[in-house]
Amino acid sequence: MASRTPQSRRSGYSAEMDEAERASRDEIIALQTKRLAWTLAHAYNNVAHYKKAFDGAGVHPNDFRQQSDLRNFPFTVKTDLRDNYPFNMFAVPREKLVRVHASSGTTGKPIVVGYTKADIDVWSDVMARSIRAAGGRTGMIIHNAYGYGLFTGGLGVHYGAERLGCTVVPVSGGMTERQVQLINDFKPDIITVTPSYMLAISDEFKRRGLDPRQSSLKIGIFGAEPWTNALRGEIEATFDMDATDIYGLSEVIGPGVAQECIETKDGLHIWEDHFYPEVIDPETGAMLPDGEIGELVFTSLTKEAFPVVRYRTRDLTRLLPGTARPGMRRMEKVTGRSDDMIILRGVNLFPTQIEEVLVATDWCGGHFIIELTREGRMDEMTVLAEARPESWDGSGLLEHTERVTASIKNSIGITARVRAVAPDTLERSLGKAKRIIDKRPKE
Ligand code: DLL
Repeated sequence: MASRTPQSRRSGYSAEMDEAERASRDEIIALQTKRLAWTLAHAYNNVAHYKKAFDGAGVHPNDFRQQSDLRNFPFTVKTDLRDNYPFNMFAVPREKLVRVHASSGTTGKPIVVGYTKADIDVWSDVMARSIRAAGGRTGMIIHNAYGYGLFTGGLGVHYGAERLGCTVVPVSGGMTERQVQLINDFKPDIITVTPSYMLAISDEFKRRGLDPRQSSLKIGIFGAEPWTNALRGEIEATFDMDATDIYGLSEVIGPGVAQECIETKDGLHIWEDHFYPEVIDPETGAMLPDGEIGELVFTSLTKEAFPVVRYRTRDLTRLLPGTARPGMRRMEKVTGRSDDMIILRGVNLFPTQIEEVLVATDWCGGHFIIELTREGRMDEMTVLAEARPESWDGSGLLEHTERVTASIKNSIGITARVRAVAPDTLERSLGKAKRIIDKRPKE
């Protein structure tokens, strides 16, 4: 994926940093080592699953002396959390929890995560730090359109925004007309929402004859799903705003694990004083050196209620040295998760690669769906690409779709069918977009 490092669109975002953000790499490593030892002991002593897993692997928390020793400890995977549904992964008595969240997942039982008061404090701190790194400041208004409820997005951002001293508009997802009305009336500086739902908000601005560039929004904090630099360019131009990427997952804390800094927009700084990242080869489980792409793995460093040890996220990325925060490493934008990888006639691809091709055209925005079917013994992929209203006069669509087919062939190496569909016909997500409809018979 083309990596560009767009500069922020407005000056004056001099970084105000807290102590950990100013720390040197050596200081961060020393802090992590101390905290890793604490987490391993805390998990082993208080969670039956970890005791069993460590004993089974023949390791004990006392064997941990330096960061490289972590490789001897077993991974934790999603099914470990499911098998311990609902409360068996907690390392504190249930009465110490002040909140639970749950990630819905597509099948089976949800994963339940819990927080002590101190955990909520840490989460608020890393979220406040994330909003500040994105250019947010005390006194600003935040329109928070991440879903409230069991999903961690809404409340995670909410507490961080309050901690930073912002005025939060807790609008949650959905009711797109009302979203636009409130943006127009309350004049927020910042919007927090999934990038795909931002596109629906953008459509609604246009439907009402409002110019998004004239809106009060200056900063967007977009995450919870993969999105591309091409879509960043599209959103920034449409709203005349700075769009930054935020990453997180319920199992590790929620949003605020890593955040892109507005001054560099060059990938996401991982808040390494609280979350220890590794990248591994997803096939062999071997630790990969920084710079190599693989599966992202996290160990929590300060979490009381729900410590995670070497949790396999299934998200694919690579670790890079810190820039705007030199003591903390960055992760490259997540281009996909292993679960969303499409294998089509032997070629691996992610929906973000299709997004990149589509957003580069001027007739289609970011609304698209990938349909997978089987004809005879061949898998087929059809991309349903929604035309922009201004390009839906019927003329030129065939040429447009042929151009996209060629472009997919050139950049990804597969032949896909591309079908233009009328504006406003593809279902809009209110949160995370569902990009793939797999109609192939189950084997
Ligand atoms: O999506 C937490 C969150 C809320 C992050 C709001 C950012 C903003 P889950 O529902 O548990 O938590 O889903 C976590 O979403 O493993 C990734 O696959 C994906 N994801 C989250 N952020 C990004 C991002 C929240 N910036 C899963 N880029 C993760 C790509 C992301 N994928």
